Amino acid sequence: MKILAIESSCDETAAAVVEDGRRVLSNVVSTQIEKHKIFGGVVPEIASRLHTENISGVVKKALSDAGLAAGEVDAVAVTYAPGLIGALLVGVNYAKGTALAVNKPLIPVHHLRSHIAANYITHPDLKPPFMCLVVSGGNTLLCRVKSYTDFEVVGKTRDDAAGEAMDKAARTLGLPYPGGVNLDKASQNGDSQKYAFPHPHVEGSPLDFSFSGLKTSVINLVHNASQKGEQLNTADVGASFIKAVTDSLCGNTEKAMEQYGEKTLVLAGGVSANSVLRARVSELSKKRGYKLYMPDLALCGDNAAMVGAQGYYEFLERRFAHLSLNAKATADICENPRF
Ligand code: KG4
Repeated sequence: MKILAIESSCDETAAAVVEDGRRVLSNVVSTQIEKHKIFGGVVPEIASRLHTENISGVVKKALSDAGLAAGEVDAVAVTYAPGLIGALLVGVNYAKGTALAVNKPLIPVHHLRSHIAANYITHPDLKPPFMCLVVSGGNTLLCRVKSYTDFEVVGKTRDDAAGEAMDKAARTLGLPYPGGVNLDKASQNGDSQKYAFPHPHVEGSPLDFSFSGLKTSVINLVHNASQKGEQLNTADVGASFIKAVTDSLCGNTEKAMEQYGEKTLVLAGGVSANSVLRARVSELSKKRGYKLYMPDLALCGDNAAMVGAQGYYEFLERRFAHLSLNAKATADICENPRF
């Protein structure tokens, strides 16, 4: 079955057609990066307006690349949560209009579920159950994926997400938006032992994360150096910071795998594109004998192919929405609400 999928939760307007959850027939992403760059981050109102301008063309291209008319798809899937509310509303309303026009079911998809599902496209053999480390711009969590639609969160950030911390560190170091990827590039030849950043532990919840102290400590380091007129080596600061973030991500992942007796590890979300994180989870998996799955680099960031992949499994559970479907800025990955 063919699903038309739509994604507009942040700063990419995206549409795709995916067959049976695994085969991508088209995948169109229109990024807004250039428009937000001058502000150093995503401006929500600008994001919503650009989605409104672009969505129609992006959906049409996804259908024509797949060689289909709208009426030939079997369902319409859309990211309904979590994300920027104005941005989400554009995709949700476009999906509702399309589903109504072609008289096909409307499938709401949770954004983090679709980041996990990016792996179903990259790895045709991957099936739940597994443990997943989800690291994106707005969320960081460790969850047990018990089935395609049954999730248990076993660890989560108490404050900032890993991606948010990466973006803030990059901005503090004067690197352009989007921060995470530029920090990754600028840190390639840095000395990761040069600065000892804190390694936060959440008292009583060993699988939870905290990145706000780490974020503050890089800001303090850079500001103190500038007040003293000292020149910092960006590559060394960046490499040390990424080491601290990945120590925390890998340390908690190892504990969770041990605690739940899992042997299959999956990485998901925008930060899963980070070169150091990919190398370190690979090393960890080799050492511990885990079977590791990581999304193709092209599917780490926001896209609609992953929405179509997860949408298929939501469709099989008949999780359809009425035309009263609303977007939500926050939503728990574990919930299976009635729409
Ligand atoms: O998953 P995503 O595309 O957006 C959300 O759904 O939140 O993740 C975006 C995040 C941003 O914080 C971005 O800086 C980060 O992923 N990111 C990276 C890299 N590429 C993207 N962080 C570190 N290294 C990268 N190579």
